[in-house]
Amino acid sequence: MDDHRSALTDGIRRLRKERNAIILSHNYQLGEVQDIADFVGDSLELSQKAARADAAVIVFCGVHFMAETASILCPDKTVLLPVMEAGCPMANMVTAEDVRRLRKEHPDALVVCYVNTTAEVKAESDVCCTSANGVLLVQKLEADEIIFVPDQYLGHHISNQTGKKMILWPGYCPTHVRIQAADVRRARAVHPQAQVMVHPECRPDVVALADLVLSTGGMMRHAGGSPASELVVGTEIGILHRLRKENPGKTFIPLTEQAVCPNMKLIGLENILWSLEEMAPEVRVAEDTRLRARKAVDRMIGMA
Ligand code: 13P
Ligand code: SF4
Repeated sequence: MDDHRSALTDGIRRLRKERNAIILSHNYQLGEVQDIADFVGDSLELSQKAARADAAVIVFCGVHFMAETASILCPDKTVLLPVMEAGCPMANMVTAEDVRRLRKEHPDALVVCYVNTTAEVKAESDVCCTSANGVLLVQKLEADEIIFVPDQYLGHHISNQTGKKMILWPGYCPTHVRIQAADVRRARAVHPQAQVMVHPECRPDVVALADLVLSTGGMMRHAGGSPASELVVGTEIGILHRLRKENPGKTFIPLTEQAVCPNMKLIGLENILWSLEEMAPEVRVAEDTRLRARKAVDRMIGMA
């Protein structure tokens, strides 16, 4: 490590202690961010970790909705998002007003929102889910009509797996739609022994060709336990850092190098250090919204 990097990591470690902070990182963050974090995981694991943390400050290295979810669960903690502009374009594809309109059109339906939504949308929803628990959760729901926002592809996958008809919102992840069925066919031709695992945000034709459909946390667990020595990975390529680090004997092949989420790459060590120095930028959800959003998040945690 060069002098600049080691000064940054030393500074972060010192301030983390002084501020009684915990650093959480999503699996898609830059390698340098994952390496300094106290915990790296998927959306569900990170929200559980935030809820249980006894630190006073959470430095959330991910995107805005993830920091918001931490703030919904931990109103007494200071939640920092080192780069405020790090948003999730899919989360911004549906608004609270859209959900209210859907409810009017389908008054008997239950509204399930993906965790990739704003706090305002969660506040209008009955229950929240992540890619790790969506299938299980919808299976348990007793409702004839289910509205799912905003990811049409995750919704399609959940509907397929549960056999339940769902009203889908036309949102999508701009990063995961770059992964094509042709990428899976090419990978299978070049690596015939490899297992193919993809994220449920991928298009249905990609999902149909995969061996496994998993959240990023599910991919980590599967890679660790699977006897397969070659795995093809259909999700944002930031996860390769952790997959390779934790499984040095195995080979991981991205379905495409194009699957990059630019928002997940905005945070670097400099931003984390600055954020801990300034105790900013802080993500906080207005209390009335928080209390309503919390119900949907609590229901998810309770059901799963
Ligand atoms: P995971 O919850 O599977 O980590 O997914 C989060 C996400 O944003 C996927 O694009
Ligand atoms: Fe949002 Fe897609 Fe980026 Fe995940 S990968 S944060 S869903 S834009």
